[in-house]
Amino acid sequence: MTQIPLPELALVALIGVSSSGKTTFAARHFGAYEVLSSDHFRALVSGSEHTLDANEAAFSSLYHVAARRLERGLLTVVDATSVRAEDRRRLVDLARAHDVLPVAIVLDLPRSVLDARHEARLDRPFSGAVIGRQQTDLRRSLRGLSREGFRHVWTLRSVDDVETTQVTRVP
Ligand code: GTP
Repeated sequence: MTQIPLPELALVALIGVSSSGKTTFAARHFGAYEVLSSDHFRALVSGSEHTLDANEAAFSSLYHVAARRLERGLLTVVDATSVRAEDRRRLVDLARAHDVLPVAIVLDLPRSVLDARHEARLDRPFSGAVIGRQQTDLRRSLRGLSREGFRHVWTLRSVDDVETTQVTRVP
């Protein structure tokens, strides 16, 4: 079982392809106001989680709220795929600008699990090929996360691991 001793003063990037379970994991381990979800921000600025041309407005709003929280010393969790280096760099820069630790929790599940979940979902109107592209980006990223600036990296590689992980807060 994976134990995650999470520093209280942290910006947590939940990293994983669509359907890897980021939102479910976030709801299980963090408070509603601690989690900033890109889907939620897309919906706030455009009326729907799926408006892809709302990405810029959604993410600039998300980063703005994250910055306001971090300047108060509030633990903040970003629930977005973050499979591309440029997306993660924004998060590392934001954490550094506020003197908090950037940490990564990666949900790297087998493709068969992701495909089955994607098939079962009615709320993700894109093709399964998107999952494959995101997973390729993710797998290329894994070894470099510490070098990118994440001070702690936890990688969860199976459904069982994700479901049994315990998160504790450490001062
Ligand atoms: P996106 O919002 O598309 O990026 O997905 P996500 O990574 O936030 O995944 P989400 O938490 O929305 O979960 C996707 C689906 O996977 C859910 O509808 C659940 O059915 C299933 N799921 C998520 N987490 C778990 C888990 O820990 N165990 C099991 N058995 N199923 C899960």
